Amino acid sequence: MITLTNIKKVYNPKKANEFEALHGVSCDIKDGELVAIIGKSGAGKSTLLHILACIDSYQDGEYRIDDTLVKGLSERKYARIRNEKIGMVMQDFALVEDFTALENVMIPLNFSKKKIKGKKEKALAALKAVGIEDLAKKPCNKLSGGQKQRVAIARAIVNEPSMILADEPTGALDTKTSSEIMELFKSLNEQGRTVVIVTHDPKVAEQCQRVIEISDGEIVGGNE
Ligand SMILES: Nc1ncnc2c1ncn2[C@@H]1O[C@H](COP(=O)(O)OP(=O)(O)OP(=O)(O)O)[C@@H](O)[C@H]1O
Ligand SMILES: [Mg+2]
Repeated sequence: MITLTNIKKVYNPKKANEFEALHGVSCDIKDGELVAIIGKSGAGKSTLLHILACIDSYQDGEYRIDDTLVKGLSERKYARIRNEKIGMVMQDFALVEDFTALENVMIPLNFSKKKIKGKKEKALAALKAVGIEDLAKKPCNKLSGGQKQRVAIARAIVNEPSMILADEPTGALDTKTSSEIMELFKSLNEQGRTVVIVTHDPKVAEQCQRVIEISDGEIVGGNE
C-alpha cells in the first residue's frame, strides 16, 4: 500500500530558478492496483513517478510504502527499498547499450546487498517472462525498440518487486508492439503486482483500473 499525503516537490529550492512542480499531492495506491497517470506535458507525471520510485526527494508531505515513511532515510535505506520493492521502467529504457540483454537484466541482482543464488537463472527467467529469452546474448544496441522495452521490463521484474513503475513505456513503440507491452503489464498485474503507468496514450489508460490525472502539479481526477 502506498500513501502520498500533501507531497510538495520544489526543484532548485531557494535559487533564482526555484520551481514548485507538485503543490501538495495526496493519493493512495492499493496493493495489486493497475493505475495510469495521465496529464499534459510538464504536468508533473515523471516528477511524481520519480518520488514513488525513491529516486527523487520531496520537500513537504509524507510518502509511505506499507509502514515505512520514505523521508530523510540514509542512501543505503533508499537503495534497499528501490532494490527490494520497486521495479522502474524508464521512458528511454536506460539500458547499457553494449551489454547483452542478459547482462542488463543482471544489473539489479549484482547491486543487491543480499546474497542471491542463481543470478543467471533468475535473469533468464525474467527474460522468458517477457518473451525474449532467445535474445539473452544479443547486445542491446542490436535490438528493436520493442525488444529493448522488454529487456527494460525484465530488468524491472528480476528482483520480484511488489510494485512496477513505468514512465511512458509505450511512448516510442508502434501500435502493435505497444499493445503487446500493455498485455505484459496487465499479466504482471494479474500475478499480483501493483503497476503504475505514466502515459499519454488514451488506449493504454483505458486498460487500467484507475486513471489519475495531473494538471499543473495537482491531481485533478481519478483520486477516490
Ligand atoms: N530537474 C528539474 N529541474 C527543474 N525543473 C524541472 C526538473 N524536472 C522537471 N522540472 C519541471 O517540473 C515540471 C514537471 O515536469 P515533469 O517532468 O514531471 O513533467 P511530465 O508531466 O512528466 O511531462 P512530460 O509528459 O513532458 O514527460 C515541468 O515544468 C518541468 O519543467
Ligand atoms: Mg515525463
